[in-house]
Amino acid sequence: KPGQFFMIKPAICDIFLKRPISVYNYKDGIVSMLYRISGKGTAILAKLKQDDELNVLGPLGNGFNTEYKGKNIALVCGGIGIAPMVYLAESLRSNNNIDIYVGFKDEVFIPDSFKDFKDKIYIATESGKEGFRGFVTDIFDPQYDIVYACGPDIMMKKVASMCKENNIKCFVSLESHMACGLGACLTCVCDTKYGKKRVCREGPVFNGDELWI
Ligand code: FES
Repeated sequence: KPGQFFMIKPAICDIFLKRPISVYNYKDGIVSMLYRISGKGTAILAKLKQDDELNVLGPLGNGFNTEYKGKNIALVCGGIGIAPMVYLAESLRSNNNIDIYVGFKDEVFIPDSFKDFKDKIYIATESGKEGFRGFVTDIFDPQYDIVYACGPDIMMKKVASMCKENNIKCFVSLESHMACGLGACLTCVCDTKYGKKRVCREGPVFNGDELWI
């Protein structure tokens, strides 16, 4: 499902823990993933060649609800938070009206499948290199039935609060350090209105209302 993730590491390497990487797309039996090199684990993954073996656990986590029909839906993405939104957009597009808001610091990355959305994609860059100069939350217009957000916590928090003010359902996908991915180690717990929850097990998708209250 969109929003689910896999724990991954190369079959032969000197790192002990797998890294959580979300599903970027799933088509014709092929799962693809998009990640930013942000440490040793992802740097090693980026050096893999075709036919190298991976140690893979998943799919894990709850994922986004894609059962909606006839709704006006906004996807709000910040930076690498765009990764899980591609498969989500693919899953929702035939039954709903979708607008996509993307924010980057400087360099803009628009996945090929987002290019089909043409006039329905709104871009902000902090540097002003492309689109609106500022944050994605500056251009996000909270006039939807449902909003999905993925990106830095500060961005998702703002989106969730804008949605709450406007009585809009909002779902956010959290990122967290993960050791096991299975709910056993508790490295990924986050605070919610209902107590501590494990991002890998009860998430990574949460109702925005549950968090940051
Ligand atoms: Fe171990 Fe979530 S990563 S409990």
